[in-house]
Amino acid sequence: MGCNIAIDGPAGAGKSTIARRVAGELSFIYVDTGAMYRAMALYMIRNGVTKENEDEIEKICEGARISIKYVNKEQTVLLNGENVNAYLRTEEVGKMASVSSAKPAVRAHLLALQRTLAAENDVVMDGRDIGTTILPDADVKIYLTASARTRALRRLQELKEKGQECSLEEVERDIIERDERDMNREVSPLCQAEDAVLVDSSEMSIQEVVDEILRIYREKVDRA
Ligand code: DC
Repeated sequence: MGCNIAIDGPAGAGKSTIARRVAGELSFIYVDTGAMYRAMALYMIRNGVTKENEDEIEKICEGARISIKYVNKEQTVLLNGENVNAYLRTEEVGKMASVSSAKPAVRAHLLALQRTLAAENDVVMDGRDIGTTILPDADVKIYLTASARTRALRRLQELKEKGQECSLEEVERDIIERDERDMNREVSPLCQAEDAVLVDSSEMSIQEVVDEILRIYREKVDRA
C-alpha cells in the first residue's frame, strides 16, 4: 500500500494546483480524479448525450475504457486508448462531468482505477469523495475550500487568461450550481470526512496552503 494523501473540496478551491505541488515536494504521484470524470463526460458528449437524454449515461458508460499514464510525472488520461488531455478543461465538459459523475454506474466504473493507483503508488489524490469513499484509510485527509466569491474570482482570471469573456456573476452562479449538484447527489456527495483537516484557502496564497498541508503530513508521519 502506498502512502496516500486525499484532498477533497469544491470546484475552484485550488485542489489541482496545490495537490500537484504537494506531490512534487514529496516525490509522490499526483492523481487528478476530476480528469477521469471529465474524460467520461467527453465520451458522453461525443456519443450525443444531452440534458434531454441523460438517462443514457449509465447504459453507455461501459463503453468508455479510461486509463492513466504518467509522462514526466504528468497525468495523461486515455479514453479508449486516445490521449484526451487537451479536451478536458472546457466549460462544456465540466458541466457534463458534474451531471454524469452523479450516476452510480459512472462512479463504480472509476472506483477500481483510483484505488489501484493508490495501492501501487505514493499518491496525492484530489477529488470529491477521496477521503470519504475511495480511500477511507488515507494517511492524511484534507478538505480544501474557499468562499464561492473567491473561487469565482480565481476562475474568472483563468478564463480571461484563455481569452474568454464572462461576468463574475455568471461564473459565481455556475460555481454555486455545481456545488449544489456535487454536494446533494445521492451517491458519494462532496462532504468533509470526519477525520479530514479543514483548510480554507480564501485568505491564503498557494504557497501557504502547500506549506500547511506539508506540515500536517509531516506531523502525521512523525507521530506514526
Ligand atoms: O475537479 P473537476 O472540476 O475537474 O471535476 C469535474 C467534475 O467531476 C465535478 O463536477 C465533480 C466531479 N468529480 C466527482 O464527482 N468526484 C471526483 N472524485 C472528482 C470529480
